[in-house]
Amino acid sequence: MQKNYAAGRLRFTTDNTRAYKDADAIFIGVGTPEQPDGSANLSYIATVARQIAETIEKDCLVVVKSTVPVGTNDKVEQFIHDFLVHDVKVEVASNPEFLAQGTAVRDTLEAARIIIGTDSQWAEEMLMKIYEPFNLPIVSVSRRSAEMIKYAANDFLALKISYMNDIANLCELVGADIQDVARGMSFDERIGSKFLNASIGYGGSCFPKDTKALDYLARQNGYELRTVKAAIAVNNDQKTILYKKASNRLITFDGLKVAVLGLTFKPGTDDLREAPSLENVPLLLERGAHVYAYDPVGCDNFKQRYPEGEYNIKYVDKPEEALSGANVCFIFTEWSEIKAVQPKEYKKLMRTPLVYDGRNIYGIEEMQDAGVEYYSIGRQAVVENKDLKSNNSYNPGHRQYIA
Ligand code: UDX
Repeated sequence: MQKNYAAGRLRFTTDNTRAYKDADAIFIGVGTPEQPDGSANLSYIATVARQIAETIEKDCLVVVKSTVPVGTNDKVEQFIHDFLVHDVKVEVASNPEFLAQGTAVRDTLEAARIIIGTDSQWAEEMLMKIYEPFNLPIVSVSRRSAEMIKYAANDFLALKISYMNDIANLCELVGADIQDVARGMSFDERIGSKFLNASIGYGGSCFPKDTKALDYLARQNGYELRTVKAAIAVNNDQKTILYKKASNRLITFDGLKVAVLGLTFKPGTDDLREAPSLENVPLLLERGAHVYAYDPVGCDNFKQRYPEGEYNIKYVDKPEEALSGANVCFIFTEWSEIKAVQPKEYKKLMRTPLVYDGRNIYGIEEMQDAGVEYYSIGRQAVVENKDLKSNNSYNPGHRQYIA
């Protein structure tokens, strides 16, 4: 950005008239957040569409990068035509993005594919020209198909994770190990090796929102999208699966020091949207726990919802501070700073080395060797006490939830 800014090819402005007035193409990339009923909020798109209609003075292609329900681009085009001030040609094309948080630049410059959605040759040619220098595979489809590709791709990935989490829960019950199972699956090119990590559930700004939005779109069209519904349901339960296991293991959380390692929905971002921590920390606080939370970047955002003075929560600068004297530890995010904590540190620092790992950071054997009681996702529990093992390894709490 600095290079292009210095070369005069990049300008920033808050004046939309200046930006839109004589543009050949305008890309819309505003948010489409989830509404309480699961539908996408299109008010930001509408605001921009109206500004464009009122300011453009020459023929222009409007490109929607925002994730919008199928059919929205038709409406955006109509909306712009309705409010158009000057007599110019405007078309709207769909060009969904597939950026993940923390890797947006790489995901742009080295995208797996560019999706172009338009039914007009003029728009298609212009987008081909724009993307030519990227030298990436281009898939040109109808506008509605492009809109659908974005949801179908995101929801497929969400489904893949929920599927692995479902299998992981079954692995625990039947004595298999989800990491070995995933490895065995990954060599099949039809399955692929990515997004097979069982976890405490997917979060973030896309998967939770886009699964609900597609489910909503299906219902609106009189169709039940059963696979996506199942992915949502599995994910909802998965987020508190370790809390349920711990509740089953401990008589009470009241007065216990609980170390929470990781607050954000994944590493490399300070985003808390739909993060498992936001489901679990309130439950722990309600049950009287003293929560000591560590996250390399997420604490400031978490503090805004759970300030230290108001809640029984303390934010610490190092994982070790959270672990020191703790009765139980939950791991919600696989930050490298958390992965760097050695198994023996849990044994050494915690009052009782009892760890619930939602990201399968540690090997079963290393935790066993370190003398840590260790519960993770889709793997056998490491429990010294035989009575606890029969109670928790094939987790009855989880069985209840299945029933
Ligand atoms: C995602 C998509 O990857 C991206 O293409 C789309 O444009 C936006 O949504 P993002 O939400 O930033 O990007 O994160 P991603 O890395 O995909 O992870 C999403 C969630 O899934 C995280 O909570 C992550 O922890 C979880 N996840 C991911 C798993 O639980 N297991 C996996 O194997 C992979």
